[in-house]
Amino acid sequence: MATIMDSMTVKPLSDALGVEVSGVNAADLGEATFKELREIFHENLVVVVKDQDLSPAEQTEFAQRFGEIQYHISPEYLMDGQPEVMILSNEKEDGKFIGLPDGGSEWHSDHSYVDQPTGYTMLHAIKVPKDGGDTEWTNMVKAYETLSDEMKERLEGVIGIHSFNRLKNQRLTVPVRHMNDPDYYKRSPPDAFHPIARTHPHTGKKALYISPRFTIGIKDMDDTEAQPLLDKLFAHIKNRDFIYRHRWTEGDLLMWDNRTTLHLALLGVPEGQARRMHRTTVLGEIPF
Ligand code: OGA
Ligand code: MN
Repeated sequence: MATIMDSMTVKPLSDALGVEVSGVNAADLGEATFKELREIFHENLVVVVKDQDLSPAEQTEFAQRFGEIQYHISPEYLMDGQPEVMILSNEKEDGKFIGLPDGGSEWHSDHSYVDQPTGYTMLHAIKVPKDGGDTEWTNMVKAYETLSDEMKERLEGVIGIHSFNRLKNQRLTVPVRHMNDPDYYKRSPPDAFHPIARTHPHTGKKALYISPRFTIGIKDMDDTEAQPLLDKLFAHIKNRDFIYRHRWTEGDLLMWDNRTTLHLALLGVPEGQARRMHRTTVLGEIPF
């Protein structure tokens, strides 16, 4: 690995979170540069490495430097021959989507509905539409830190209930795609229980760990109290001061830390314009 050739430049993406990194090749990062990048990543929550020409195998190897690959619970859109990579795409072949067409259309943190959720997600932008398809991230460390002291105390030791099952979530409706399959949500995994104020294993910082997509209630708290509390927190995390909106460019390798951010796919890609991403996920720790 050619450490000597690495000349990483770093600039902020927004006041809310994120940095843009250029001058490196993710497929050939020296160990020292990799460690520096990981440090920058943990501090800034989102990193976009510009102008990456990575094969799916190279993307997998890059992801594995951060930890163990987490395979998606649904095998449908995993890449043939490289199942570590999932395809997100609105393109069709023989009348069938070649990837997940509409992932992430509510604020969420990846896989928070399992006991050991995703640590990091990486998307490599292969095809970017001229219009639409942006993604937003919100800074859940800032969201936590700007809560009142009373609220922080109230949340101490409080456990959120996370569910994949949309039928259990009063804030959501069921997508048309699944309406003809009443068993779809019966196949969902059992609910998971995670602290609402979560501690980052590397930085020690606390972040809010709840989302409108997956958090359906609070353990040992009646819904008459839990739902208004969640509503209040969900309104708080959507403060524009915490949010960064990304306009994708082909070759972006964008990674986010799921412990400290939520993200949202804004969709809105017009018919006839292609969007295609190669996605890898790295397993995190059991939240504490
Ligand atoms: C994801 C996701 C959003 C997007 O890959 O986990 O939510 O805009 N993607 O593609
Ligand atoms: Mn997601």
